[in-house]
Amino acid sequence: MRKPIIAGNWKMNLKIAEGVALVEALKPLVADVDNVEVVVCPMFTALDAVAKAAAGSNVQVGAQNAYVKASGAYTGEISPQFLQDAGCAWVIIGHSERRHILGETDALLNEKLRFALAAGMKVMFCIGELLEERKGGLMNDVIRRQVVEGLKGLTAADLANVVLAYEPVWAIGTGETASPEQAEEVHVFTRALVAELFGADAAAAIRIQYGGSVKADNAAELFSKENVDGFLVGGAALKADSFAAIVKAAR
Ligand code: PGA
Repeated sequence: MRKPIIAGNWKMNLKIAEGVALVEALKPLVADVDNVEVVVCPMFTALDAVAKAAAGSNVQVGAQNAYVKASGAYTGEISPQFLQDAGCAWVIIGHSERRHILGETDALLNEKLRFALAAGMKVMFCIGELLEERKGGLMNDVIRRQVVEGLKGLTAADLANVVLAYEPVWAIGTGETASPEQAEEVHVFTRALVAELFGADAAAAIRIQYGGSVKADNAAELFSKENVDGFLVGGAALKADSFAAIVKAAR
């Protein structure tokens, strides 16, 4: 019932011409895929050009961050409204690199999520534990805190525009993927949390992506798990053929 969603998080990679070339190469590779949502998330500088290149195709465009004000004296920030102006329907909020490198807190991420939703954007909201948290037996506590604090103030109806992305920090960019069983365990736990907070219908409907060293050759196995509804892909999203292969694994 849940439509799979595969998103490419390009992070701070791909200049404008490179991003446009990737989308031009990707479009024909996924043209016949209509049962999977496909999203690419370029840097801000490439959004407008990539969105124009993707227009009319089944490739959607997302940003990697958004601020909590619409416009004004917020030097260096960018709002959902300006992202929409650049052709962007989606935004990633709470990526572990924002949490751990840029120091974004649960409270700020909750504000960002609510502001982006109120502006009419769709959000991929990331959660995930550090290796030391997993080793210390704190994994469930961390996931609970990130979900409870992150989704605070939302309604069950709001969740129609939210995708959760479980990205164990130890698996991001390391080549070390969570096993399908490890991913499924946290996805089940997360879905149960959503049920507790928003009810069974919202929990059954919400899509939960896995992220962390997803590649063409491990995607099908991860996707075979009942609660894995797609992927947020970093490194393997930087080439059209490897990203398209991951999309096809979820078809
Ligand atoms: P990776 O990144 O696929 O390169 O591990 C995933 C992410 O950070 O979203």
